[in-house]
Amino acid sequence: MNFVVKGLAGKRLHGTIPVFGSKNACLKAFAAAILTSDPVVIKNAPLIEDVFRMRELLTSLGAEVVNNGRVFRVVAKNIKARALEDGIAKSLRASIVLAGPMLARFGEVEFSYPGGCVIGKRPIDLFLDGFKKLGASVISDKQGNRFKVKAKRLRGANICFRLMSVGGTETLMMAATLALGRTILHNAAQEPEIVALADFLNQCGARINGAGTNTIIIDGVKSLHGGIFETPPDRLEAGSFAIMGALLGDKLKITNCDPAHILSVIEYLESMGANIKKGETWLEVTRAKKLQSVNLKTHEYPGFPTDLQAPFAVLLTQASGTSMLFETVFDGRLTYLSDLNRMGADIVPCDAHRAVFHGPRSLRGREVDAPDLRAGLAFIFASLVAKGESIIHNAYNIDRGYEKIEDRLSAIGVNIKRV
Ligand code: EPZ
Repeated sequence: MNFVVKGLAGKRLHGTIPVFGSKNACLKAFAAAILTSDPVVIKNAPLIEDVFRMRELLTSLGAEVVNNGRVFRVVAKNIKARALEDGIAKSLRASIVLAGPMLARFGEVEFSYPGGCVIGKRPIDLFLDGFKKLGASVISDKQGNRFKVKAKRLRGANICFRLMSVGGTETLMMAATLALGRTILHNAAQEPEIVALADFLNQCGARINGAGTNTIIIDGVKSLHGGIFETPPDRLEAGSFAIMGALLGDKLKITNCDPAHILSVIEYLESMGANIKKGETWLEVTRAKKLQSVNLKTHEYPGFPTDLQAPFAVLLTQASGTSMLFETVFDGRLTYLSDLNRMGADIVPCDAHRAVFHGPRSLRGREVDAPDLRAGLAFIFASLVAKGESIIHNAYNIDRGYEKIEDRLSAIGVNIKRV
């Protein structure tokens, strides 16, 4: 499936676009459900491909997963399998997060190197080192593609992450909830999704303190009972739509969001001249008369999120003057820039992490492939600014993280078709 998008030809985006539940929070609640044999209810889940893959993965392990719209009910009572199903795990980076709960509940887990986005090689050394520090043995096949992790009972440990890792923090935090004694995670990631996960685990009987700071303390308990996870609004959807508003908005209203989770994004957009009003659960964004250039540097939360780097790059192609983009979190997250140049942008890549933009440059519609969900959305944004029509292949990659994106964009004036 592909998206065909027509340039707006100077028209502005106006109206209301709602934000759905957070993909990166919801996926971890599914993993957390494995820690207990009681039913877990996950509410406000986004109906996106990654959530459907996670449902398939849990079902393949023997868990019972049913949903009624955005409410999912997971019962991981009868899980027999100890190995993560290869096919699905390969399509979902978040599958590796299941390893922590599996190890903590069953003392054993087997999995392959996780797949998912193509944004640079996604190592899992922090996960494997963490499991070993918690007392598990880690055996891998010769090629280092398949891993078997075992532990009679995990024991609390002092773990310092050499790199801040969202998945690493979440996975080891979950594993530590059932370990013997105290675990302290140093240099832990601080994303809001981690706070939401810790609050949920504490609701289920875990004893976690410090989530949202860089030091998290977990005192192990014998078992966890069920609970209800209320998926928070997706801050990356909210940030993506705020960027779109700064690009082409005329009082574009973004609802069901939490502006407190994207303060650094709002700062950058205002420094470029965007006009942003914000309430408790909404934003209203209007494009600047003339977009100012700015130097973007991505950073772990609460800095500017790496997941919004690609959508933001489209803004830099339209800003007056010279801008620098510095991607500090991932190694291979700039490959999509060559496609923006094919559309007429003037971007000079410096190295695997940095590029210089000269703008404004007018863009022309092109045929492009969505390499991952965030660059895929960036291509939709570029198509709106471009003259003529663009075809974006691999709509699946965008559907992985943005539910019914064409319906929500059409409602604010975008001419987009799924073909
Ligand atoms: C999560 O990925 C998100 N995914 C990503 O969002 C997001 O880009 C990333 O966090 C950073 O914010 C989900 O939550 C499902 P990391 P994760 O571990 O946990 C290196 C999206 O678009 N690293 O924080 O996999 C890694 O290579 C996705 O929604 C190791 O070196 O990211 C990267 O350079 C894309 N060894 C850095 O740490 C490890 O063992 C941060 O990665 C693990 C990670």
